[in-house]
Amino acid sequence: MCEDELIPPQADMTEREWLRAGSAATAGGPSPRTTGRVPQRVNRRTLLGGAMAGAALAVLPSPAQSPASAAPRLGAPGAFPFPENPNGKGEFAVLVTGDAGTGDEAQYAVAAAARDVCRTERIGLAVGLGDNIYENGPESDDDSEFQDKFERPNSGIDVPWLMVLGNHDCSGLIPGSGGDPSRGDREVSYAATSRRWYMPSRYYSVPLPAADPLVEFFAIDTIPWSSYVAQLDPHYRWDGPYMREQRSWLDGALRASRARWKVVIGHHPYLNNGKHGSAGSYDGFEIGNYTSGVHLKDMYEKVVCGRADLILSGHDHTLQVLEPTARTGGTRQVVCGASAKTEDGTAHFGHPAAWQNFSDHGFMVLKVSGARLTIDAYTVDVATRKATLRHRAHQTRPVAAPSRVHA
Ligand SMILES: [Fe+2]
Repeated sequence: MCEDELIPPQADMTEREWLRAGSAATAGGPSPRTTGRVPQRVNRRTLLGGAMAGAALAVLPSPAQSPASAAPRLGAPGAFPFPENPNGKGEFAVLVTGDAGTGDEAQYAVAAAARDVCRTERIGLAVGLGDNIYENGPESDDDSEFQDKFERPNSGIDVPWLMVLGNHDCSGLIPGSGGDPSRGDREVSYAATSRRWYMPSRYYSVPLPAADPLVEFFAIDTIPWSSYVAQLDPHYRWDGPYMREQRSWLDGALRASRARWKVVIGHHPYLNNGKHGSAGSYDGFEIGNYTSGVHLKDMYEKVVCGRADLILSGHDHTLQVLEPTARTGGTRQVVCGASAKTEDGTAHFGHPAAWQNFSDHGFMVLKVSGARLTIDAYTVDVATRKATLRHRAHQTRPVAAPSRVHA
C-alpha cells in the first residue's frame, strides 16, 4: 500500500499556510478554514512539527518570475531517434509507465520486466507519465537522481521517452505539493543532456511519423491545475498566463493535428477509480481552484474529450483501462501509475472500466496502426521481475476525424 501521496489539511493553501496548519494540527489546534469533504487521514509527512515548520518557513523562497518554456529545445547530442516507420508488425509500439521515479527495487523490477516486453513488441518510443523523480524533483539540472531513478533502471530501453511533469517533480519543501515550478524547469533542462529523456518544454507535442503523422502525442503540464499548494511563482498559478497559454496551445494543436490518432499524456487523470479520485474532486476536495482539480476537469471536458482518442495519466498508483462513454465524448481514460508503487487494492469509484487493477505493479504497451489502437496492460511480479499480460483493449475508430484524412 502506498502511503506517501500527500493530502493537505485544507483546500487551496500556500505552503506557508499548510506548514502553519500542520503545526496547529500537530498541537491539536482547530482548523479554521476547513470546508468541503476533508480526507480522514492526513499523511504523517504533512505534519511538519513545530521546530521543523518554523525552520522551513524561514527558508521559503520568494516567488520569482520565469517565462513559460513552451518553445521546443533541441534534444541531446546522440539522442535516441524517433521511429520514422512502423515496426515489423506494422505498428508504432509505445511503452507506457507512470510514477516510476523512486529508485527502489520495485522500479528496477518493473523496468526489467518491461525491457523484455519491449524487445518482443519492438517498441520505438516510451512514455513517462510524471512523478519521474521522487520525492521533490531534481535539485539541479544534473542531479544524480536522474541517473538513479531514470537512466539506470531504464538502461536497454533505448528509445526516446516522452516525459511529463508530476506533482512530485514540481515540489519544494513539501514532497508532492506541486508548488515549485522551478524544479520542473530542471527536468526540461536535463533533456539537453540525456539520450532518452525527451522534454523539450513543459508541454509539447510529438507527431509520428513527423512527416505524415499516424499518431500524435500531446504532453501537458497538469500540475498548476491540481497542486496541493499555491504556486510559488504567480506566472504558473492556475489562472496565470502560463496555464492560459497552455490551454490555448492544446486547443489549437488538437485542431491542427493531421494525425489519425491523438493521445493526450498528463500526470493527473480526468476520470479515476483509485483513491485520489477524478478531476474536480481530487482527494475529496470539492472546493478550491487547484486542490480539487476543477479547472483541469473543465479543460479536459472542453478541450480534450471528444477530440483525443486517449488520455494517459498516472498519479494514482494503479492500472485502469476505463471505457469510453458519452460523458467523455468517446475519449478513453487510461491510468498507468503503478510502475514503482502500488495502491490499496480497492476501487473507490465506479466509472465504467474494461479492466482495472489496484494491487499490482505494472506498465502498458500502446500499439498504433492505421487500423487500430491496442492497449496491452501488464502486471509485474517484483520478486521474479516477470510481466504478465492481463488485458488487451482495441479501438478501431478514431474519436475525431483528423484535419486531413490519413492515407
Ligand atoms: Fe502524483
